[in-house]
Amino acid sequence: MAETDQAPPPSDQLAAMNLTDTVEKHAFSDRVLIRSVVGRPDGGAGLAGQRVRAGGWVKTGREQGKGTFAFLELNDGSCPANLQVIVDAGLAVLSKLVATGTCVVVDGILKVPPEGTRQKIELRVEKVVSVGEVDPAKYPIPKTKLTLEFLRDHLHLRARTNTIAAIARIRNALAFATHSFFQEHNFLYVHTPILTTSDCEGAGEMFQVTTLISESEKLEKELIKSPPPSEVDIEAARQVVSERGEAVKQLKAAKASKSEITASVAELNKAKENLSKLEERSKLKPGIPKKDGKIDYTQDFFARQAFLTVSGQLQVETYACAVSNVYTFGPTFRAEHSHTSRHLAEFWMVEPEIAFADLQDDMNCAEAYVKYMCNWLLDKCLDDMQFMAKSYDKGCIDRLRMVASIPFVRISYTEAVELLEEAVKGGKKFENEVKWGIDLASEHERYLTEVKFQKPVIVYNYPKGIKAFYMRLNDDLKTVAAMDVLVPKVGELIGGSQREERYEVIRERILEVGLPLEPYEWYLDLRRYGTVKHCGFGLGFERMILFATGIENIRDVIPFPRYPGRADL
Ligand code: 4AD
Ligand code: MG
Repeated sequence: MAETDQAPPPSDQLAAMNLTDTVEKHAFSDRVLIRSVVGRPDGGAGLAGQRVRAGGWVKTGREQGKGTFAFLELNDGSCPANLQVIVDAGLAVLSKLVATGTCVVVDGILKVPPEGTRQKIELRVEKVVSVGEVDPAKYPIPKTKLTLEFLRDHLHLRARTNTIAAIARIRNALAFATHSFFQEHNFLYVHTPILTTSDCEGAGEMFQVTTLISESEKLEKELIKSPPPSEVDIEAARQVVSERGEAVKQLKAAKASKSEITASVAELNKAKENLSKLEERSKLKPGIPKKDGKIDYTQDFFARQAFLTVSGQLQVETYACAVSNVYTFGPTFRAEHSHTSRHLAEFWMVEPEIAFADLQDDMNCAEAYVKYMCNWLLDKCLDDMQFMAKSYDKGCIDRLRMVASIPFVRISYTEAVELLEEAVKGGKKFENEVKWGIDLASEHERYLTEVKFQKPVIVYNYPKGIKAFYMRLNDDLKTVAAMDVLVPKVGELIGGSQREERYEVIRERILEVGLPLEPYEWYLDLRRYGTVKHCGFGLGFERMILFATGIENIRDVIPFPRYPGRADL
């Protein structure tokens, strides 16, 4: 992994930091953040003379001066830059400190290094407080140039690399920016369910959630351990019941004492209980429960089929149609078998939903939100963005500036298809045929945003046949009020629409696309009672990170990627 230069501090730090020459220890640990030393506008120089405790993992270490001291580049993840640490041989066994990945906590004095060094400050160690050793012969991620692909096989250690740590900070910043943007605009954050019984996109790409399989396995094991009663066992139990019944009858006929009769009835009841238990157990059958040849979901955990959500939209609409401006931001799941660099089986989506708003408002909101995130990164994450520019994508900072400052292109789907057809006439080759009615493929989207316009493009009014049932039907009866935001590097970043608020129309659409009405009755109620014009969209959070950083594969911008064949940790 490439090491970072001492990047200039982000402007928010410039503003927030008073250049008093003291550094405070972290509120909840006994050391200072490395960021609060080297992330200062003066690179830490003003802190010279201060005594601090620092902790981190060694990025590079080397013994010098014939083993009389060691240089360690220490990083604690608080910023891309390292703190240079100098340890004399008298304080520790130097060979145990220098291996990449070693964790050290040290006390020392901050000093200005000699002229001509890159660092503005270094830490002269007085005491080595603790060491978490690393055997360099065994450490899975030694300091060599490791590919991102290789790191995917070491998810539990990859956050120790400069790249994955920078992505983690950028991801964190974008999440903060998201909440900040929507909170500033008076949206309520609503937690929509992860377990759901509705299919929002109607695309049949849902992961099913069931306990039927584990329950049936449990039962199978139990039945092997104690087999169900045989017919003979049950017959014997029946016999006991009838004998005890007879005994009660005889005692009653003989006018026996009350206590004798009560005792005999208790015996009879015990026998009956035993019989019904045996009968119950004899009904237990191994395997998934079935009824009329189909799986009997009434015996499943929720007494019906359930899934992991593909989108919180339908549920968040219930809040939009009550408290006006809302958003949900959470994990979503799609069992698509796409092995692309843009798809995950588990990804995070930001979904605002706005009442009293139409497709124009939707596009305005999407554009403002994306711009806000770009500005946020330029403001608060410039050091990490500079690392990405140096290591992965020269143009990523310029791209953020461009997107933050220029208006997005807006064209209808019909215009988009015309432009693509023109391109084909001009000799451009696409793998997928271009004609009105097709779902735009990633190659078409990227042509529009990367080649034709070289900026974000919003395509709106798609043919109804390729979009979900909930999108508002336009007056031409052929298209729906959908919009996709396409950006360079990624293609589709956002998908959204104005929602169909007319009861009769949406009812027809549900039937037209072949979905059953019953599970959507609650959704139809939003139109039956106090219906309102509303719209919303979903932004693929990982795709936003791809767009911002220039990282090529979506599996590298989520901490624990899930895709066909892989779900590590
Ligand atoms: O276009 P999509 O499918 O839209 C919806 O789910 C709507 N219900 C959203 C809404 O209107 N509230 O997905 C939205 C975005 C896409 O534009 C894309 O960025 C991202 O989610 N996305 C994925 N990201 C990673 N992996 C996948 N498999 C993705 N599928 C969609
Ligand atoms: Mg979409």
